[in-house]
Amino acid sequence: MKLDPLKKFTEWLDKEKKHGQNKMPTACCLSTIGLDGAPNARYMSIKGVTDKGIIITGVSSVKGEEMNKTPKVALTFWWPTNFRQVRIRGNVINLSEEDDNKIFDSCDERIKLISWASNQSKEINDPFKIEKSFKQYSKNFANKTIPKPKHWHAYLIEPEYFEFMELDPKAFQIRLVFSKCEQSWEKKYIQP
Ligand SMILES: Cc1cc2nc3c(=O)[nH]c(=O)nc-3n(C[C@H](O)[C@H](O)[C@H](O)COP(=O)(O)O)c2cc1C
Repeated sequence: MKLDPLKKFTEWLDKEKKHGQNKMPTACCLSTIGLDGAPNARYMSIKGVTDKGIIITGVSSVKGEEMNKTPKVALTFWWPTNFRQVRIRGNVINLSEEDDNKIFDSCDERIKLISWASNQSKEINDPFKIEKSFKQYSKNFANKTIPKPKHWHAYLIEPEYFEFMELDPKAFQIRLVFSKCEQSWEKKYIQP
């Protein structure tokens, strides 16, 4: 049978969503390689899963600059209601303008307006100015389709490595690894 770790990932994500207690099961730690060569990390919410990988979005932010310079990242999910961790390593692929537009259109209005109002990761002398800017864009775009800002992009994380870990407080952890080898996947267990 063909190994499909993305399918397993989706099943685990769906199980965490169904449990209903995790308010943000799509949240994960996105690790990048900083412009100075040192690691950098922050939480992100993934925007979707396709048969090619995982979609995340960004703007001309620090993470955007880092992924442009070194298009390799790690995503780490912790799903407390099922006591599971998933670690993914992969390549960052820039999506087409058409895909960017489709993904932006699917975001909720508040996210769209924040994308216009905030120049993410840039210094600001007064943080309350964002509120003003947000209100101004809300007015400008009232009853209009909000277009995608030029600096807003979606990225496909094309996985090369998965580790699925199940924590069992009464037993040893099970660590299941899938590594990409050419066009197929190899599967093995590693010790806790
Ligand atoms: C649970 C959680 C989810 C987040 N989701 C996103 C997200 O989807 N997109 C985003 O740009 N920032 C998100 N953030 C904020 C990021 O952690 C980070 O502050 C922001 O992306 C700027 O990071 P950068 O300066 O390294 O680019 C989230 C933060 C948390 C705690």
